[in-house]
Amino acid sequence: MGARIGVGLLGLGTVGGGVASILLCPDERHPLVHDLNLVSVAVRDLTRSRAVQLPDDILTSDPAEVVNNPEVDVVVEVIGGLEPARTLILQAIHAGKSVVTANKAVIARHGQEIAEAAAKAGVYVLIEAAVGGGIPIIEPLKQSLGGNRINRVSGIINGTTNYILTRMAEEGVAYDVVLSDAKELGYAEADPAADVDGLDAADKIAILASLAFGGSVDRSAIPTQGISQLEGVDVQYASQLGYGVKLLAVAERMAETGEPLPLSLRVQPTLVPKDHPLAGVNGVNNAILVEGDPIGRVMFYGPGAGAGPTSSAVVADILNIAGIRKASEGASGQVDPLLAAGSWRQCVLVDAGQIRQRHYVRFNTKDAPGVIGKIGECFGERGVSIQSIVQLNASSAGAEIIVITHEVREQQMNDALRAIQALSEVSGLAAHHGCL
Ligand code: HSE
Repeated sequence: MGARIGVGLLGLGTVGGGVASILLCPDERHPLVHDLNLVSVAVRDLTRSRAVQLPDDILTSDPAEVVNNPEVDVVVEVIGGLEPARTLILQAIHAGKSVVTANKAVIARHGQEIAEAAAKAGVYVLIEAAVGGGIPIIEPLKQSLGGNRINRVSGIINGTTNYILTRMAEEGVAYDVVLSDAKELGYAEADPAADVDGLDAADKIAILASLAFGGSVDRSAIPTQGISQLEGVDVQYASQLGYGVKLLAVAERMAETGEPLPLSLRVQPTLVPKDHPLAGVNGVNNAILVEGDPIGRVMFYGPGAGAGPTSSAVVADILNIAGIRKASEGASGQVDPLLAAGSWRQCVLVDAGQIRQRHYVRFNTKDAPGVIGKIGECFGERGVSIQSIVQLNASSAGAEIIVITHEVREQQMNDALRAIQALSEVSGLAAHHGCL
């Protein structure tokens, strides 16, 4: 056995408990896991009973004790939330310790500040667990796909909403019941709004974009729509038309080149053709489709949330740091630039009106002669090409008209929708989602 690497854990919840379980049972794992020594663990409540049994003398209710413990080489932050997590990460860096974190909210907003502090201190901040749970996606973007020019990253990156959408579609179970199951299974965030309103997915796509395109993006400028407004009827109609509905996060380049590089990012419920690889991603699973030159399309698929998958990713990062330390014992102040993944350019998000995609819309209308023609004219006059248009549920009370468009700029689509809503035959826009 070589020199042991001291690990300090901030948080012993779902993910922290999973990490501790792996570190306490190293047998039959990589030999380097034997060299990881869990020396200090900060918990909120020392008296609480927990699934993982740890010696009392390594538990503390003061996170600063973990961060400042001289025996701790790597600080693992799994408490979540913005503060005190951000401050503790920065304190650990300033104390010369590498950090492993699953905290997408902090990295999406303060990733640049943290990466700069880490580079200055000559330490690593690794974030494999922040996106996609157990799926290796951060390291592939940083290293394995490094020779590609990335054009687009898209995917299902929130396990809770995918679990909810899958059970609603397959079993017709009510939204509230499924959400409470997701919480019990340890998938959902403490505040479920982060999941169902798309905020968690927006954090994650901001992180993926910054790695794929080489510069941080403005998290607050990402157009974000969750699933709380999604109606079961649209899931059914989509299915009749040959689509599944997924909460999709997308980041794509909007120019061949540029400084800053223009990007388009969005999160929204999106119709996915049933034969598309993302359509078969169900339950808590996540999948990320990366499109690059010369690789083409590559998809990463697996469990996107929960104790086991997330702690698998955390421990992989701890091992990366342990491996580097072992390799460079004696040397200091130099980090591997690929693994550290600092920015190498500036990126800027284009105005939301410039985003190009296909759309699904459902109008409530009168069942009168010529309505479909007038709707078609409103679209046509603004350059919006229709892929399919169907009328459903026509009765004396009215009708529902569903339109799927070809790819169109958001601005054109919004102009057409305004014109259509002004038609006397149209009583309302009942649903509006993206479509792959
Ligand atoms: N709440 C998150 C999800 C956990 O459902 O995907 C993993 O980040």
